[in-house]
Amino acid sequence: MIIRKGKLEDLKELMEILIDTIKSKGETYSKQWVRACLIGNKDLVLVAEENGDISGLLIAELWPEKNYSYLENLYVRPEFRRKRVAYKLMKEYENICKKGRMDMISCLTLTDNLAMQKFLKKFNYEFGPAFYLCRKNLKI
Ligand SMILES: CC(C)(COP(=O)(O)OP(=O)(O)OC[C@H]1O[C@@H](n2cnc3c(N)ncnc32)[C@H](O)[C@@H]1OP(=O)(O)O)[C@@H](O)C(=O)NCCC(=O)NCCS
Repeated sequence: MIIRKGKLEDLKELMEILIDTIKSKGETYSKQWVRACLIGNKDLVLVAEENGDISGLLIAELWPEKNYSYLENLYVRPEFRRKRVAYKLMKEYENICKKGRMDMISCLTLTDNLAMQKFLKKFNYEFGPAFYLCRKNLKI
């Protein structure tokens, strides 16, 4: 397995992977947004690649001017889970943050997402207060 930065050529495969999150959680990962993350320098896209296929991805906002990064999404394809794919993505992400003057990472996780919570505990993330996710569909 290799961990590398995402490339524009990965866009189609990344969207196929993200569609799972989009459908199950109503997330707003549009193709335009993922494309912007891949070509810009405000965001980081890391992928784990196995024999030419993407097994996992990590997307984060980088705010070196705030010494801070926000982990937007970490996703491993179901058939590759519990093989340390997310672990390796996260290690690389934290190293990039440290080198880039970002000394704080935060992320949100659902209260019923026990796998992610265990994962974050393994990485010594502190758990802050719980929030309500308040949303309004402006098209209605
Ligand atoms: C959470 C997720 C990214 C973990 O990916 P993964 O590649 O399976 O995780 P790893 O194999 O790297 O696990 C590293 C450690 O995290 C913990 N962990 C990960 N998944 C776990 C699970 N299902 N149950 C318990 N502990 C788990 C373990 O401590 C594990 O270490 P170990 O293998 O020594 O026991 C993956 O389950 C996933 O993609 N879930 C769906 C998307 C998601 O919810 N993303 C987070 C959005 S906030």
